[in-house]
Amino acid sequence: MCENHKSDKGVFLAQVRYNEPIGDYYYRLSLEFSGKGAASFAKAKPGQFLEIKVNTLSNPAILDIPEHLRDASRRNVLLRRPFSFVDIQEIDENKTVVDIIYLVTGASTVRMTTICPQDELSITGPLGNGFSIDSSKDCVILVAGGVGVPPIEHVANWLTKNRKDVKTVAFIGARSKGHLPFASTQKADAKTIEELESIGVETFVTTDDGSFGDSGFVTDRLGKWLSANKIDTNKTLILSCGPEPMLANLSKLAEKSNIEAQVSLERMMACGIGLCQSCAVEVEKKPDNQTNDNSTETTYKLCCKDGPVFNSKEVIW
Ligand SMILES: Cc1cc2nc3c(=O)[nH]c(=O)nc-3n(C[C@H](O)[C@H](O)[C@H](O)COP(=O)(O)OP(=O)(O)OC[C@H]3O[C@@H](n4cnc5c(N)ncnc54)[C@H](O)[C@@H]3O)c2cc1C
Ligand code: FES
Repeated sequence: MCENHKSDKGVFLAQVRYNEPIGDYYYRLSLEFSGKGAASFAKAKPGQFLEIKVNTLSNPAILDIPEHLRDASRRNVLLRRPFSFVDIQEIDENKTVVDIIYLVTGASTVRMTTICPQDELSITGPLGNGFSIDSSKDCVILVAGGVGVPPIEHVANWLTKNRKDVKTVAFIGARSKGHLPFASTQKADAKTIEELESIGVETFVTTDDGSFGDSGFVTDRLGKWLSANKIDTNKTLILSCGPEPMLANLSKLAEKSNIEAQVSLERMMACGIGLCQSCAVEVEKKPDNQTNDNSTETTYKLCCKDGPVFNSKEVIW
């Protein structure tokens, strides 16, 4: 992925194209940017994110709110909320379409279900660093859990368009079939994740309850695949996003298998631009050559500014 990429982040108005449910838990929101917003988002990388201003949105009618979220939905929502991209399409120099997929999980995302086509939303972005895939890699293993799927689906599409030399394999995990954020897996007779298989990405799926794919953890399925397949570990890269316990297991597996891994962390965020310090991530301190300080102390980086993508070895799990 282009290393000299420069992000022109800003606050832009986007017009909503659609906001449609995917099964019982997720929505796909499609946003159209014009002018400077279109130019900025056209340059964004998979793994970067945007923030949506949610405090102007109203709640749906009480009966349209999932029962377990009715209490939570009464809370005030002051801060913008972060979401990764699942797709970016540069239509022309004055129009860029950015899609996100969100899980309805609390006060802001409940309100987001009321967003309608033609609405205008205030969006900050593109934010964060994104994944980096250098030219020495010819095999990329994608690993996603639940709500970590969108940036991984985005990178899968990016690779098939921009790095045809790379073999891409995906491992997707979720609690159950309904928690897989793909339109294709919501069909009653679904057998595969069509969004990934149709672009030539071999995909292995696990669910905690065995309702789709194999039963068990996605990292265990990857472990089996690594034992059964001979790969050049120096030329292989793992890219991952999902719950932190999954990322911690993945990090151990990657280290044991001697494969470089990048993980995208979804920390709670407030400002999203490095000011409030609420998204600190404990990382290993690099040895300081000038002071000969080789201590194994740790330090902190900011998930919104230095991340959300980190080398898995640097994160203190
Ligand atoms: C860089 C980044 C990218 C993200 N991308 C996506 C995405 O593509 N799709 C998506 O659905 N969500 C994504 N998230 C998480 C999303 O921002 C939160 O789910 C959302 O802000 C919840 O807002 P809420 O007010 O509805 O819920 P809240 O009331 O704020 O929280 C509801 C529940 O979700 C948990 N939660 C809230 N924020 C996070 C978080 N950042 N990580 C883990 N748990 C959280 C809370 O602990 C609580 O249990 C991302 C987060 C980050 C930091
Ligand atoms: S969210 Fe404010 S510093 Fe990261």
